[in-house]
Amino acid sequence: MPSEPANAAPARIPRHLAVIMDGNGRWAERRRRPRIIGHRAGARAVNVCIDFCIARGVQALTLFAFSSENWGRPEDEVGALMKLFLNALEREVEELDRRGVRVRFIGERERFSEKIRERMAAAERQTRNNTVLHLSIAASYGGRWDIAQAARSLAAEVAAGTLAVEAIDERLLASRMSLAELPAPDLFIRTGGDTRISNFLLWQLAYTELWFTEALWPELDAGLLQTALDDFASRERRFGLTGAQIALAQPNETVE
Ligand code: FPP
Repeated sequence: MPSEPANAAPARIPRHLAVIMDGNGRWAERRRRPRIIGHRAGARAVNVCIDFCIARGVQALTLFAFSSENWGRPEDEVGALMKLFLNALEREVEELDRRGVRVRFIGERERFSEKIRERMAAAERQTRNNTVLHLSIAASYGGRWDIAQAARSLAAEVAAGTLAVEAIDERLLASRMSLAELPAPDLFIRTGGDTRISNFLLWQLAYTELWFTEALWPELDAGLLQTALDDFASRERRFGLTGAQIALAQPNETVE
């Protein structure tokens, strides 16, 4: 991922956008259709979002597709969602690859069927050299799970005698979190009207700008996304410093 795209600075385009795609079920219920119809419409909105990011030069997009808690939904909805994921993986990866999208998955992969895990691994393999857009799909993901797995990986090294407890700091823990290779999200969008983080990227969203909309995910279009980007561009990000300090030196996370 290039450290500073030519079009990022003047227009203040977020380098990394994180999205909770909420409202599929209500979109379908309002049409008196089964919830899975809403998820199918949601899958189309995913393409709208990807197209927009590529067109506007957003370099990384992280989508919350399925939370750790979503396993508790009715069995038929979970089954239908799994089928939808599998179909999307089979159908979309060629085109994503052709467009230069690198696809990765974050979350507790072990909970998915072997078939889905194989597809995930194949999609990651096929697209690993792409750099136009870094697409991360959070699936069976929870922010608390992420922090726990990062802590566990450090604890294992301490137990093995290869890491001193004193060496553990925020930086080291951050290096074990999902998405460690990307800049933290600059902008978070949640559709569907709720103003919560819902156990998404708890660690990574510490200084992310939050944007909420009543629009349901299947209603997403480029105009709505542009409204969010315009709002983002108007905000002063201080990262805990003063406005005067920020005017002197823009904090600038870079990535490879
Ligand atoms: C939340 O809406 C959405 C989900 C739990 C599933 C998200 C899945 C998709 C957008 C489709 C496919 C995605 C990929 C990456 C191929 P909800 O069901 O909670 O809606 P509600 O709040 O109205 O009930």
